[in-house]
Amino acid sequence: MADELKILVVDDEPKICELLRALLRREGYAVDVTYSAQEALQRLSQGDYAMMLTDLKMPGMDGLELVTRSKQMRSDLSVIMVTGYATVETAVGALRHGVDDYVTKPFNIDELRKVVSKTLSVRRLARVNQELMDQLKVANTTLEQQRDKLAHMVTTATGHLDETLAALRHRIEDLATVNEIGRLVASALDLDRVLNLCLDALCGKMGLQTCSIMLLDSERGELVVKASRGAKSAEILGTRQKADVGVAGWVIRTTEPLLVEDIAQDPRFPKRQSERYAGSSFLCVPLSLESRVMGVISAADKRSRIPFTQSDLNLLVTVAGPLSIAMENARLYQLLQENCFSTVKALAISLEAKDGYTSGHSQRVTEYATTMANALGLTEKDVVILQHAGMLHDIGKIGITEQILNKRGRLSDEEYQVIRSHPVTGQRIIQSLEFLRAAREPIRNHHERWDGAGYPDALHGQRIPLLARIMAVADAYDAMTSNRPYRPPMPKADAIRELQAAAGAQFDPELTSVFTKTLAASADGQSDARTS
Ligand SMILES: [Fe+2]
Repeated sequence: MADELKILVVDDEPKICELLRALLRREGYAVDVTYSAQEALQRLSQGDYAMMLTDLKMPGMDGLELVTRSKQMRSDLSVIMVTGYATVETAVGALRHGVDDYVTKPFNIDELRKVVSKTLSVRRLARVNQELMDQLKVANTTLEQQRDKLAHMVTTATGHLDETLAALRHRIEDLATVNEIGRLVASALDLDRVLNLCLDALCGKMGLQTCSIMLLDSERGELVVKASRGAKSAEILGTRQKADVGVAGWVIRTTEPLLVEDIAQDPRFPKRQSERYAGSSFLCVPLSLESRVMGVISAADKRSRIPFTQSDLNLLVTVAGPLSIAMENARLYQLLQENCFSTVKALAISLEAKDGYTSGHSQRVTEYATTMANALGLTEKDVVILQHAGMLHDIGKIGITEQILNKRGRLSDEEYQVIRSHPVTGQRIIQSLEFLRAAREPIRNHHERWDGAGYPDALHGQRIPLLARIMAVADAYDAMTSNRPYRPPMPKADAIRELQAAAGAQFDPELTSVFTKTLAASADGQSDARTS
């Protein structure tokens, strides 16, 4: 390694220079000599010297100044001062100026060799150390960059994870909402109830102030507001509009769900065509089944006043699915009920056609029973059962001859038994009709008595089904106030007195009281019309 190093010797005494050159060459160094500091600086600016050996006292620029200026030029240059004027002051001064070591004249050759070798070793170590330091700096910089990059990646990944989790949580909430609304609407068979249940649930879940459902009236080409929530709900309920105009018309025409973030900025609707919503952001989604559009559901005016988002639209679109199915189910159920009821009515009419005196009896009994059911606050389902049972309560008489049915005068015991069989016969007739299952009981038991003396099961008191007890009162009242072949119709007041007298014996006293009150509340003209 030593042969790679160049040493510059500076001394105004040529002999010293040559001596040093000879010595150092023997050690394997490349040596240049110069006799003045000025020339030394020039050499240093041109050559790649590892070390400079310089005299202290030289004419012109002395050794210390040379060292100072050399170090300014080459900070890594090792310098050994060679002087015959060795004092502590000069030594300290030399070290202050950046001299690495110090040799006094006359110098010992071995000492010089050691000093040169040691100084170059120190220089080499310093360079290695510097290189290591530089490498360390680079490594630290790289590490810091990687750390920052990793931190950024972690932050980004955490952010993405949080976003994904939030989105997932939101979606789960939406699905729970859809599931709940789907379950709610599927539990109802009445169309109005289906629509209103859905709107209530949506208002709660989506924080809506305004929402509505409009159904398509295809025959008239109009949309009808069938259910509504919001400040103007009562005002707009039942109103109609052309099915091809406005925002709803756009949805019907395109069958696409619509999200409007700000109606004022939406180029699809240059002029606001509906003033039903207070806010400028709203949703409108088609209600359709198997590509048949049935109407639209609209949502507007979030309580938070925040515009609707794609996520809100997705929720409403998802809810529209089960809602459409529930609407179709309700429509089909309504159709089925209407068909069934028509059949029931046809049966009753065919029965009463056999006996001119009982014409309209079943219809009137049905009306009385319905009035009582409403006064008692019974459910819609019970009302429908009563209407079926009312129309068919005497269907069992279809097998009884007209001779017995229209007989003037007292019936024989045998004939009376035939008459008494009609509730059971009636029940048997409708046995195979599943939709009349619930009507079987009131038909079978409409001749039971409160005191247990009725037929066919001799039930008494509360053991008699409620609907059968209602039927018993309604049936008896109409029978009394109707014309019969063997007697004229009884006046209303007399019939009421008869009912009251039989309350607690033949009839449920509470129901009798409710019925007579409903009669009192109704107009005389109506009652007279019924009994004629
Ligand atoms: Fe009867």
